[in-house]
Amino acid sequence: MHSHLALLSLCILAVSGAAPPPEQLFSPLVPKKVLATFKALPNPTKYPQYTTTTGTWQYFSPDTWTSGFFPATAYEVNTRRKLCGATPANGLGIADWLAVGRAASTAELPLVNGNGQGHDQGFLSFPFVEELDANPNNQTAQTAIKGFARILADRFNPVVGCTRSWNTADPTDFQVIIDNMMNLELLFHAETLTGNSTLRKIATTHADTTMKNHIRPDGSTWHVVEYNSTTGSVIKKRTAQGYSDDSTWSRGQAWGIYGFANMFRLTGDQNYLITARRLAKYFLDNIPADGIVPWDFNAPLVPAPRPADSSAATIAANALLLLAKYETTAAAAEFYTQSAIDILNNITHLAWNPSWQSLLSNGTVNKPANNYLTGTVYGDHYYVKAGNELIMRGLARCT
Ligand SMILES: *[C@@H]1O[C@H](CO)[C@@H](O)[C@H](O)[C@H]1NC(C)=O
Ligand SMILES: *[C@@H]1O[C@H](CO)[C@@H](O)[C@H](O)[C@H]1NC(C)=O
Ligand SMILES: *[C@@H]1O[C@H](CO)[C@@H](O)[C@H](O)[C@H]1NC(C)=O
Ligand SMILES: *[C@@H]1O[C@H](CO)[C@@H](O)[C@H](O)[C@H]1NC(C)=O
Ligand SMILES: *[C@@H]1O[C@H](CO)[C@@H](O)[C@H](O)[C@H]1NC(C)=O
Repeated sequence: MHSHLALLSLCILAVSGAAPPPEQLFSPLVPKKVLATFKALPNPTKYPQYTTTTGTWQYFSPDTWTSGFFPATAYEVNTRRKLCGATPANGLGIADWLAVGRAASTAELPLVNGNGQGHDQGFLSFPFVEELDANPNNQTAQTAIKGFARILADRFNPVVGCTRSWNTADPTDFQVIIDNMMNLELLFHAETLTGNSTLRKIATTHADTTMKNHIRPDGSTWHVVEYNSTTGSVIKKRTAQGYSDDSTWSRGQAWGIYGFANMFRLTGDQNYLITARRLAKYFLDNIPADGIVPWDFNAPLVPAPRPADSSAATIAANALLLLAKYETTAAAAEFYTQSAIDILNNITHLAWNPSWQSLLSNGTVNKPANNYLTGTVYGDHYYVKAGNELIMRGLARCT
């Protein structure tokens, strides 16, 4: 009895002694910047993807893999307003966020009839998934989700056991990237709407194949696995956006943790949970002493500073918060939760940048292509989403 009590008080001490989430995550600058970005969208609509190295959004045609993130962020701000209400301190009262999310997503609708975004149909579908949370009967959003899912499902090859990520000149060269794990959730949403269980089967087959071929024994991941589409055999494992074929690109690792954690959430298959935990362990074990997530865990430290990737940090934070949900002991849950909060604190300290149009700087879009030291629309999206998660779990208070 006595030792139980001692343990209990230690746990409480550990929790109360831990660093709280960064207050910037709940700053009125969040809604203010999202609204300013909405008002500045070009007409006809183009979507922000990343900023210049001085913080100005760069706009891209709707047929771009990142188009769904900005409208989905507006929906996340709507969620926050529902959670917190509007106060002068939180600044959430400056817009009807549901209307902003809806208006911002309409330019994506023609993509349902076909687009050039390969596997990234899941990312494109995000605003419509959010819309169905607000209005489950919205036919436009339902049709969009079914259409995007159909496009993704059509990319499935049963010989390989995956959906094709990127198109290639040689159609037998079947390229799959770890990022693709994030797009599988769409297939479950479409299954719910249609009752078509083939969609779920495609998702689990893709995840099982990825589990087998994309992960190294130490829990790190390759960015790209190339399969032969006619034989199903692995041709090559390599990088595209990372430092080298043997290195671990941090955003890919974050997509992997989150993707497998989502697969566990959607199926209850323990293998996905075990895999997500393995990937998370590698990620956390390889964050350097300064707490900053580098763009690639194996990229050289010289010349310093090695560029960070704020988007890998915010994606991983959401993934870790999800993993915390599935722990049955308080200590294990606390470990993931506090790791997520530490990552958010450190990246906020480095990259919160009031004068930029994006919320965060220090994103790496594509280092080999020399596109880094930018804001990213996906990094910002997952930053806002992580803040909402913390509020929903009672780990942060509304301002
Ligand atoms: C339905 O969803 C679409 C696409 O997200 C949106 O543009 C539209 O405003 C929504 N309509 C209603 C009535 O909810
Ligand atoms: C279910 O989805 C698969 C994949 O898109 C498709 O090939 C099949 O025709 C669908 N089945 C029905 C009954 O619509
Ligand atoms: C795939 O295998 C087929 C049959 O062996 C071969 O003709 C083709 O060149 C291979 N493709 C690649 C990309 O290796
Ligand atoms: C930054 O990361 C370090 C190491 O992970 C952690 O100990 C520290 O608490 C973090 N800093 C903040 C401000 O959270
Ligand atoms: C973070 O961004 C600032 C501003 O662009 C830059 O000066 C700094 O070197 C970056 N640090 C890292 C670790 O990427």
